[in-house]
Amino acid sequence: MRVVEYTGKDAGRVAWMLGRFELFASLSPEQLVRLAPFVSLRAYDEGEVVIEKDDAGDAFFVIYSGGVEVTAPGLLGFEKLITRLGPGEFFGELALLLRQPRSATVVCTEPSELFVLKSPAFTRLLESEPEIGALVKGIAKSRFDDRP
Ligand code: CMP
Repeated sequence: MRVVEYTGKDAGRVAWMLGRFELFASLSPEQLVRLAPFVSLRAYDEGEVVIEKDDAGDAFFVIYSGGVEVTAPGLLGFEKLITRLGPGEFFGELALLLRQPRSATVVCTEPSELFVLKSPAFTRLLESEPEIGALVKGIAKSRFDDRP
């Protein structure tokens, strides 16, 4: 994993990258620029593990490019595919919302760039932006009901 460096001057570009996704569609351009410094961008290789099941969770991820597989141990210990996620989709919210260990393993299926929000920034975003909170919690609920 490599952190893709960007400076304060790039906040406008990061804001634009974030604003393309439905998750952030309720934010104004100004709000996106204010959010940008709290979001980092990481580049992962194909096959790299982003989240390991049962680890403690401290970050929330939004896929900018590439894709991931969400898996969990199934019958006889074989990894079972739960779902595939792609650009604009997010993961890593359950451990933060429920204050529980990671519920599944997440692996990149191709070279991927992921936006990362650390737990405090994620919590602040959900508190200050009810539309984003409702969207994330709605999807989290269906995933929780459908968890392995
Ligand atoms: P978290 O438990 O923090 O870490 C693993 C992540 O995998 C989890 O958050 C969700 O984002 C994702 N995940 C877990 N179960 C499902 C599911 N049934 N469908 C889609 N994503 C899931």
